[in-house]
Amino acid sequence: MITRKFAALAAGAAILTLGAGASKAEDSVEVLHWWTSGGEAAALNVLKEDLEKKGVTWQDMPVAGGGGEAAMTTLRARVTAGNAPTAVQMLGFDILDWAQQGVVGNLNEVAEQEGWADVVPAALQTFSKHDGNWIASPVNVHSTNWVWINKAALDAAGGKAPETWEELVAVLDKMKENGITPLAHGGQPWQDATVFEAVVLSLGNDFYKAALNDLDPEALGSDQMKEAFDRMAKLRTYVDDNFSGRDWNLASAMVIEGTGGMQMMGDWAKGEFLKAGKKPGEDFVCIRFPGTQGSVTFNSDQFVMFQVGEDKQKAQKMMASAVMDPAFQSAFNVVKGSVPARTDVPNEAFDDCGKKGMQDLAEANSGGGLFGSMAHGHGAPTAVKNAVNDVVTQHFNGELTSEEAVEELKNAVAAAQ
Ligand code: GAL
Repeated sequence: MITRKFAALAAGAAILTLGAGASKAEDSVEVLHWWTSGGEAAALNVLKEDLEKKGVTWQDMPVAGGGGEAAMTTLRARVTAGNAPTAVQMLGFDILDWAQQGVVGNLNEVAEQEGWADVVPAALQTFSKHDGNWIASPVNVHSTNWVWINKAALDAAGGKAPETWEELVAVLDKMKENGITPLAHGGQPWQDATVFEAVVLSLGNDFYKAALNDLDPEALGSDQMKEAFDRMAKLRTYVDDNFSGRDWNLASAMVIEGTGGMQMMGDWAKGEFLKAGKKPGEDFVCIRFPGTQGSVTFNSDQFVMFQVGEDKQKAQKMMASAVMDPAFQSAFNVVKGSVPARTDVPNEAFDDCGKKGMQDLAEANSGGGLFGSMAHGHGAPTAVKNAVNDVVTQHFNGELTSEEAVEELKNAVAAAQ
């Protein structure tokens, strides 16, 4: 009897447990993103685990492709089919585009409760809000004007990190002499454009702003722009024969292994070095692209919340709030290579490159040297970004001379507006 009663109790308990499990599973978020490299996936895992601890189930919707172009194509198909994901990783002007379509959610309640307006820098709020309403949670600030150098390769090339264009060229030449690929690069339009915008910035803050934020035809068609393309042609001489189409994280791997000397890439590259167990200052060196010290071209990944059914709204709000939690922002960005999207997160947990990133960002912000990254959706609307990418890539692949590229750039940007 006793045994039977116990069995019945146990069965009842099992049903209760199942019931609890089932009701928990309702709190789920489907998240569309392009974080598929080793470092990116490790960072995403910090968020996944944080949410799972809070009882929110993660439905992963990864769309591979650095820079997120493929992810945005998938998103369009999903929204057109009336089946938007709960949250979508997105950059700058893309966020505003979707907001204008009237398909995004409203996070005002949680934003007000948690005082987001006081801690999110104005440069990010421009994209997290639309018509005065919060529509996205910013998870990080990346910057694109970095160079990642293999420390042993730098030592073999004289040991001094380059600070000017001339010093950069000298180090690249030395690395070539030493028999490695000086510039580890992936020939994809967005990667070419990432290098290009650092080169443009190295020719002056005013020039960058005029050309790649204000889209001033005079700056786009200037002699300085010809100089930028000439420098790109020079950099082209330092890549290997297999650069075409290579994914950015494979270029990072070349620098990690020492077959490549350096990579010019945003600080998501640091995530790859860390994932490989490499230490800043010991195994690799992080510097600002020579000539851009004190300035920052930034992009911020934000999770845009789409309009979803009532059953999904609780989990969506929980995710929006979890992303903005200061402890989470520290833990996530330490792994991702970026810096927090809030101004009140201590820098203690960050390595030297991360600390430098935070300091550079604050200084650039107060000193007028902070600009939206064109290659990563914060310089101008997507049509313009694509036009710039096309011209930069054609030139990098030798299809246009520098003179032709300047002319094309001016015309393509005008046509895309
Ligand atoms: C950027 C994005 C980063 C990183 C990178 C490469 O646009 O902001 O988070 O994912 O692309 O995929």
